[in-house]
Amino acid sequence: MTNPYAWHNEQSKANFDEVYDLRDPRGYFEALGALDYRAPEHGRRIFPVLLSEIQSTGGPPKVLDLCCSYGVNAALLKHDLTLDDLYARYASRDLAGLSSEELATADATFYASHKKTSPLEVIGADSAANAVSYALRAGLLDAGSAENLEENEPTETLRRAACGAGLVTVTGGVGYVWQRTFERALSCIVNGPQSGGFGASHAPWVAAFAVRFVDYAPIAAVLARHGLATEKLSTRTFPQRRFENTGEREHVLRELDAAGIDPTGKEEAGWYHADLYLSRPVTEAPVDELLGASGVLDY
Ligand SMILES: C[S@@+](CC[C@H](N)C(=O)[O-])C[C@H]1O[C@@H](n2cnc3c(N)ncnc32)[C@H](O)[C@@H]1O
Repeated sequence: MTNPYAWHNEQSKANFDEVYDLRDPRGYFEALGALDYRAPEHGRRIFPVLLSEIQSTGGPPKVLDLCCSYGVNAALLKHDLTLDDLYARYASRDLAGLSSEELATADATFYASHKKTSPLEVIGADSAANAVSYALRAGLLDAGSAENLEENEPTETLRRAACGAGLVTVTGGVGYVWQRTFERALSCIVNGPQSGGFGASHAPWVAAFAVRFVDYAPIAAVLARHGLATEKLSTRTFPQRRFENTGEREHVLRELDAAGIDPTGKEEAGWYHADLYLSRPVTEAPVDELLGASGVLDY
C-alpha cells in the first residue's frame, strides 16, 4: 500500500507545495502556468463524455474530484470556461490588487455568470485545507473537505457528500495519492450514509490521468476489488506539463527506460505525458472506442 512515487515527489520532482495551500489560487496558476500545466484541460474535454455515458445508464451527474485543489476541475466542468481562461483570469492585473476574500467574492460572481445549464454536482477532496475552502467560497464545489486519505479515514463530511457519486476524477494527483485514497474514496461513495439509488450498490466510474512512468496496476487492483475493470486509453497520451529542469527530465527518462516505454517526441521533447485510465463496473465498448467515437480525442 506504500506509495512508490513519494520518493520522486520529494527528491526529483519540481516542488509545488508552497502554492498548493494558499488562501487563493493566483500563486497556483502562476507557478503551474509557468510550466504549461495542462492536465485539467484534458479533463475538461474528456470527463463530460464519461458523465454523459454514466447518465445514459441512470447514473447521477455527480463527481468526486480527488486532489481538487482550488476547484480547478469543478471550474472547468461546471462552466463555459477553458484552462486558458483561468490562467488569463488569475494573471489579470485587474484582480492583482484584490485580497483573497475580495477575490473569492469576485470569483463567485464570475463563475455564476459562466455556469452551464446542465446539472452537475462536484464534490472535492484535497489535503490542502485553504485551497478547498477557497473552492467552496468561490462557489466552485458543491461540497468539499480537507482530506488526506492516504493517512486518515474520511471525515463524516466527505462520507455524506461523496455518497452515490457516479464518477471519480483525478488530474495531477496520482502519485501524491495512492491505493489507500482510492479505497477510502470508493468506500465513501458506495457505503456512505446517504446511499440510495445508483450509489447504493454500484461502484462509480473512475477516470484518472497519471504520468506515464506510474505503474497504475496497484490502483487498478484496489478498484478491481470494487468490481471495476480498468483500461488504459491506447490511442493517445496527454501532455501534462514541461519539465522544470534537467533533473526532472533525467529521472523520468530513466523510469520510462526501466518500464520499456518509448519517450520519443514526448518526454524526450521536454514534457511529462499522462495516460488516461478508466475503470468501470462493466466494460461494454472499450475505452478507445468509446472516446474515439465521440471525437473528443481529436485535438
Ligand atoms: C498538481 S495539483 C493538481 C490539482 C488539480 N487536480 C489540477 O489538476 O489542477 C496536486 C494536488 O494534490 C494535492 N495533494 C497532494 N498530496 C495529497 C494527499 N495525500 N491527499 C490529498 N491531496 C493531496 C495537493 O494539495 C494539490 O492540490
